[in-house]
Amino acid sequence: MTNRVLSGIRATGRLHLGNYLGAVKGMLALQDDPDIHPLFMVADAHTITTPYDVEELKTNRREVLIDYLAAGLDPERSILFLQSMVPGHYELAFLFSSVVSIARMQHLPTFKDKVRQYPEHATMALLNYPVLMSADILLYQANLVPVGIDQEPHLEVSRYIARKMNEQYGTSFPEPKRFATKGEYVPSLQGEGKMSKSVAGSFINLTDTESEILDRLKAAPTDGGTGKVGTMPQGVRNLLTFVELFEGTDAMKEYEQLYENDGIRYGDLKKRLATAIFQELEPIQERRSELVKDTAFVDGVIETGATKAQVLAEETLAEVREKMGLA
Ligand code: ADP
Ligand code: TRP
Repeated sequence: MTNRVLSGIRATGRLHLGNYLGAVKGMLALQDDPDIHPLFMVADAHTITTPYDVEELKTNRREVLIDYLAAGLDPERSILFLQSMVPGHYELAFLFSSVVSIARMQHLPTFKDKVRQYPEHATMALLNYPVLMSADILLYQANLVPVGIDQEPHLEVSRYIARKMNEQYGTSFPEPKRFATKGEYVPSLQGEGKMSKSVAGSFINLTDTESEILDRLKAAPTDGGTGKVGTMPQGVRNLLTFVELFEGTDAMKEYEQLYENDGIRYGDLKKRLATAIFQELEPIQERRSELVKDTAFVDGVIETGATKAQVLAEETLAEVREKMGLA
């Protein structure tokens, strides 16, 4: 069976290295497979599940699409679209919500985290987040989803929903799996937790200049620079993870050796690392500055993507409505 692929990123701001390594790199790898015609959306409807600003959302959803294009997602090989332009996502999410219990959704760690973060916004939309995500995926019968490891609990829900729907209504939804990249868990620059746009000081943006990257790395915690590799503080381990991701495993091993012997000179490490990171980001930034000027091209991608996605979505919806007695 050929793989069907869908992924998305919420329109909450500009992309950072965690999004790029954990999600976008996987999207790029799958787009390169000639047998796969993936769908990549901007999850703008998911953005309203936490407090947001209407004007910012209007800007951000376009910005994320431009980030996709700048990173190398190609509208000739992938369907690139805005989730909200295909209203079938909302419809399927509502139909799916009939096979999931409230308790199951309340127990998800991702739900609990967000409620902790925004205690005033424990809304139905937030509770429904994984159901809408399952609809995004299953609307296109996707079985492979390039996302970071933090999204695993949501994929578990989508597998559960697929099974339930198939048992109860005789549909034939696949049980989607995560497509993992080397950067499936990009750590925070602060030494604890993952890189995330909601934690200041944790991230490097795709649009950062080399000196901004270096400044952010300079703020990352280090130590005296010697000791046993096995007992390295998390901050140092994280820096070496970045070295491995951008300079390769050999470079990372060299630093491990140094750590056990003469000691790491963190100033040098951070400088080399900033250069390596920027080398990867520079072509993306150059493409981005061209794309921002080409409004007509971006508008065209958005229109065409929605039209193509709509056709595929309608096939699934017609079947589900029929099987659930609603057609
Ligand atoms: P954030 O946590 O910054 O708000 P999102 O939740 O919007 O990021 O995540 C968008 C995509 O990027 C998801 O596929 C997610 O798994 C991936 N992602 C986000 N942060 C990281 C990270 N630190 N490491 C790997 N992947 C990540
Ligand atoms: N939940 C994902 C995130 O936080 C975004 C998302 C929404 C998504 N719908 C999706 C990812 C469908 C993959 C497939 O980044």
